[in-house]
Amino acid sequence: LPTSKVRIKRKGVQPIPPRKEVLTKDDYIEWQISYQDKESGKPIELGELIRLAHEMKYITRDELCEIIKKYGDGSIKPFDKLFSIMRKGTQHKVYHDFTVIWEETPILRYDLSDGCYIEVALKHKQKAVGYQSMVYIYIPIQNVIARRPLVGRTAEEKEVVIWKPSKEHILGLIKAFLVASEDHQRDVKKLIGKITGHPCT
Ligand code: ADE
Repeated sequence: LPTSKVRIKRKGVQPIPPRKEVLTKDDYIEWQISYQDKESGKPIELGELIRLAHEMKYITRDELCEIIKKYGDGSIKPFDKLFSIMRKGTQHKVYHDFTVIWEETPILRYDLSDGCYIEVALKHKQKAVGYQSMVYIYIPIQNVIARRPLVGRTAEEKEVVIWKPSKEHILGLIKAFLVASEDHQRDVKKLIGKITGHPCT
């Protein structure tokens, strides 16, 4: 759905309307994945994946705590504090009496072994000063299970596909949130503590 946190992007960059355009092998599902419900704080999406993976002993508490020790112990300056959005441009009028300015946005990219990748991008905060880190996972459409292969056709209305995340995806996303900002780091650490029964020391 256009209003959801999932979009289709060609080469992972250009958003396309999947019910109007024939999909190709260069198309990715972009998912702005959440980890907990804003109101209740209950694990959703990545949070639910962590909960299930821990419950099924697919990911151990030690593995989760090891990542927190490495990326979430306060020794790393968060991405949104270390980087900024830069502007550079021409002094002379190059477009109908206007000068042109380019904005450069820093993006962290974390490649996974199966063609998926995670990005952390910087945005200006909407209703405050400072920057906000956005976390996305990009999934090649060829990596999902559909009733009929997606490549070579348009998507159907409200079409549902299946994606099977591995340990690499889950741990990579945790890492991304830990470095993204102080708030995300605090939230994710608290959430993992709640899921595993006790916080990592
Ligand atoms: N808050 C919850 N999920 C988020 C995401 N994927 N990116 C940025 N902030 C978030």
